[in-house]
Amino acid sequence: MANSARFDFSGANVLVTGGSNGIGYAIAAAFRDAGARVTITGTRADGDYESDFSGLTYRALDMRDAAGIAAVTAALPKLDVLVNCAGQARFNEYEPEVFEETVAVNLTGSFRMANAVLPQLKASRGSVINIASMTSYFGMSLIPGYGASKAGVLQMTKTLAEAWASDGVRVNAIAPGWVETNMTAPAQSNPEFDAKIIAHTPMKRWAKPAEMAGTVLFLCSDAAAFITGVTVPIDGGFSAVM
Ligand SMILES: NC(=O)c1ccc[n+]([C@@H]2O[C@H](COP(=O)([O-])OP(=O)(O)OC[C@H]3O[C@@H](n4cnc5c(N)ncnc54)[C@H](OP(=O)(O)O)[C@@H]3O)[C@@H](O)[C@H]2O)c1
Repeated sequence: MANSARFDFSGANVLVTGGSNGIGYAIAAAFRDAGARVTITGTRADGDYESDFSGLTYRALDMRDAAGIAAVTAALPKLDVLVNCAGQARFNEYEPEVFEETVAVNLTGSFRMANAVLPQLKASRGSVINIASMTSYFGMSLIPGYGASKAGVLQMTKTLAEAWASDGVRVNAIAPGWVETNMTAPAQSNPEFDAKIIAHTPMKRWAKPAEMAGTVLFLCSDAAAFITGVTVPIDGGFSAVM
């Protein structure tokens, strides 16, 4: 079936943290192509990446840096959409400091960012999109900090949805399945792991980053005006089966 989903975000201001790569970049490009003014963030000070950033405004930001979050926020007097996409997973998250770092980036950073732009979102009656994960629902022994942070993201989405509904701000999340990005490169290149993912995914493939974008634009559009507090799995059926 041809892809006929189109949304018009002309004149909207959108911030995508972690928009320099992978899923965030695909979401940022989709908002740009739908007419929005899009700011993206990444970790590199010089903003030197391989991707085409034309039509996007780049700012360096570490999600653990409260002053950096305040500076990005101050540069955006108007905002309609925040996509909290910046995230990390580490191999040594059984070290408490590393566990804490992953939670600080993925969960506390998302909370801090959403709080910081709340005045702008109240003014526009805008939306927040958080990025959850299959590890919001299922244990994955390799990455305890990542799983804890993503379970927290799912819960925080519900709490902030309730807290901010009376301000007209909607808060939703997507929970991607297995997506081909830098973050999952080690898993993609491990034949045993790859086979396990494919076996458990009814659609029998990994997702492309661009396949995450349509649901995000939908959730931020008027078509989703009465939807808040939900986390939508985009997982090829991964979470539907035992
Ligand atoms: N790929 C999957 O299968 C999958 C599944 C479920 C959820 N997710 C989530 O999707 C989001 C995007 O991940 P991805 O797969 O697209 O990975 P990715 O390509 O590695 O992108 C991660 C993004 O986060 C940024 N980032 C990393 N650490 C940061 C920090 N401390 N402060 C600020 N920004 C930071 C990266 O910046 P640089 O470009 O400068 O490195 C990049 O823009 C993450 O929240 C991830 O947990 C991914």
